[in-house]
Amino acid sequence: MTGQTLMTLTDIKKSYFNAEIETPVLHGINVTINRGEFVAIMGQSGSGKSTLMNILGCLDTPTSGSFVLNGKEVGTLNDNELAQIRNETIGFVFQGFNLLKRMPLVDNVALPLLYAGVSMAEARKRATEKLTQTGLGAFTKRLPNQISGGQQQRVAISRALVCEPALILADEPTGNLDTTTSVEIMNLFTRLNEEQGMSILIVTHEPDVAKYAKRLVRLKDGYVTYDGPVADAHL
Ligand SMILES: Nc1ncnc2c1ncn2[C@@H]1O[C@H](COP(=O)(O)OP(=O)(O)OP(=O)(O)O)[C@@H](O)[C@H]1O
Ligand SMILES: [Mg+2]
Repeated sequence: MTGQTLMTLTDIKKSYFNAEIETPVLHGINVTINRGEFVAIMGQSGSGKSTLMNILGCLDTPTSGSFVLNGKEVGTLNDNELAQIRNETIGFVFQGFNLLKRMPLVDNVALPLLYAGVSMAEARKRATEKLTQTGLGAFTKRLPNQISGGQQQRVAISRALVCEPALILADEPTGNLDTTTSVEIMNLFTRLNEEQGMSILIVTHEPDVAKYAKRLVRLKDGYVTYDGPVADAHL
């Protein structure tokens, strides 16, 4: 499947409206992402990275333009169809992990499967497999506050992987982590990309993190100012 088009953004614009005041944030984004790509999105604070990620993750809708995901025009889908395409296609790793504090790791990871209608026993089995894959097989019964920040990030990644998505979207996945742990997380993304052909998009401020990707998209004030190989980007 590698090389096939996963998503196409054509002239995507996004404004936020507060008390009828329009704040334009994205000014016409044109990007195509193929299956199997590993892309880093960089840009100054406020340049629109999270806004773009939320649109790519079907968590928010553009003000205008076309977004085709998996051959479907996202703008024409109703809420149910949107939730379905999101669950089937995308694993989202949020900044700050978003783990449920009172729930053991295995249940945190199993949650998206329960939403998708999988039985509890089967969901826990698959969650345990994903935690094992990310090196946390021994910790499935612990609570999130009983493991380190890097381990919490790996739980968040396990949860993003559990529905076998074609695409992982990660907003600053190493933002709160020390260097050693960041390297560990980026090696995990590299493995998922190279061994399983998973498409990966990460937002990062750090050139050392972006270098793990193969392609760089740079945003400035809501415009794409660079889109090409990471190696040519003079990070
Ligand atoms: N709900 C909102 N209402 C109005 N403006 C918003 C809203 N959310 C974001 N913005 C504005 O949109 C712009 C882009 O925000 P966004 O969160 O996409 O930036 P970012 O590139 O992710 O920044 P950071 O690196 O700080 O996370 C900013 O100027 C921000 O203030
Ligand atoms: Mg952001």
